[in-house]
Amino acid sequence: MKNSFSAPGKIILFGEHAVVYGKPAIAIPVSGMRASAWSEPGEGKLTINALDLNQKISLENKTSQFSVLAQTLLSKTKQSEPNLTINLTSKLPQGSGMGSSAATSTAVCKALSNYLGVDLEKNQISELVFDAEKIVHGTPSGIDNTVVAYESPVYFVKGQEPVTFDSGRTFYLVIGDTGIESSTKETVGNVRDLLDKDPNLMNGYFDEIENVTMGGKKAIEDGDKEAVGELMNKNHELLNKIGVGHRELEKLVDVSLDAGALGAKLTGGGGGGNMVALADSAKEQKEICEKITEAGYRAYQTTFGED
Ligand code: PMV
Repeated sequence: MKNSFSAPGKIILFGEHAVVYGKPAIAIPVSGMRASAWSEPGEGKLTINALDLNQKISLENKTSQFSVLAQTLLSKTKQSEPNLTINLTSKLPQGSGMGSSAATSTAVCKALSNYLGVDLEKNQISELVFDAEKIVHGTPSGIDNTVVAYESPVYFVKGQEPVTFDSGRTFYLVIGDTGIESSTKETVGNVRDLLDKDPNLMNGYFDEIENVTMGGKKAIEDGDKEAVGELMNKNHELLNKIGVGHRELEKLVDVSLDAGALGAKLTGGGGGGNMVALADSAKEQKEICEKITEAGYRAYQTTFGED
C-alpha cells in the first residue's frame, strides 16, 4: 500500500494587513484541503513529480522550492541523493492565499524524511519549509509554514517566534471565493499609500485590528463562537475602512450572514480573493455553503479545533 503524507492549507482569520505593520495576526489550518505526497522507486535519482503541474523536478533545479527543500534535508542529515520518485498532488488553489506552496513543501518534506528514516519534529519541518520558501519567494513572513507544519492555529507577530495555540471547540467555517483574482502585493501597496496620506487615521485602524485579533485569540481558546463571529464582523469592517474591500466580497459576506453565519470577513489580501464565514454548527455550515454556491460562487467547508 502506498504511504501517503499530507499537509493542510491555511487562511488568515484575523489581522491581515495590520500584520505588515507589526500587529498580530491569527491563521488557522484548512484541514479539508490538502497537499499529498507519496514515494515510489525512482529512475536512478530523486525526482519530485508534481502531478497537477505535469512537471518533473530534479535535485539540480535551483529555482524549485522542492529541490531546495530536498537538498537542505539531504545535507542536514548527511545523506546522498536517493533513487526515489515523490509524487505530489494538491487540492489547494495556487496563488489564492491558502498556503498552497507551504502545504506542498510540507507534504514533500514528510514523504522524503520518512523514506530517509529521519524523524523530524514539527518545528524542524516548519524551518525546512520556511528556508525553501525564502529562497523561492523572497521574504515570507513565516506564518504559512508554521500553521501548515503544526496544523494548529498560530498567533503571529512579524519578527517574533510564531506561537501555536489550541482552540476550545470545533469551529465550522465556510470559505467563499469571489473568483476575482487579486494581487496581495497591490492591496498591500494601496494600504501603504493610505498610511502615507493619513497616518493617524490608519494607525488608529491598525490599533483597532490589533484589539480584535487579541480578542479573537482569547475567544478561540475559550471556544466562544459568538465572540469569534462578532470579532470577524468587526475585523471585516476595519478591513473595508483601510480600503481592501470589494463589492463581491460584500455579496459573499451578506449571503453568509443572511444564511445565519455568526460572522464573516474577507481573508488574506482582499480586493477580491476569498471570504471566510463562521457557522454555528455543521448543519448551518452546509446551508451557508449551499447559499453561496446558489449565488454563483465556489465555496468550501472546513473546520478547525476539537470539541
Ligand atoms: O493572502 P495571504 O494569505 O497570502 O495573506 C496576505 C496577508 C497580508 O497581511 C495582506 C500581507 C502579508 O504579507 O502579511
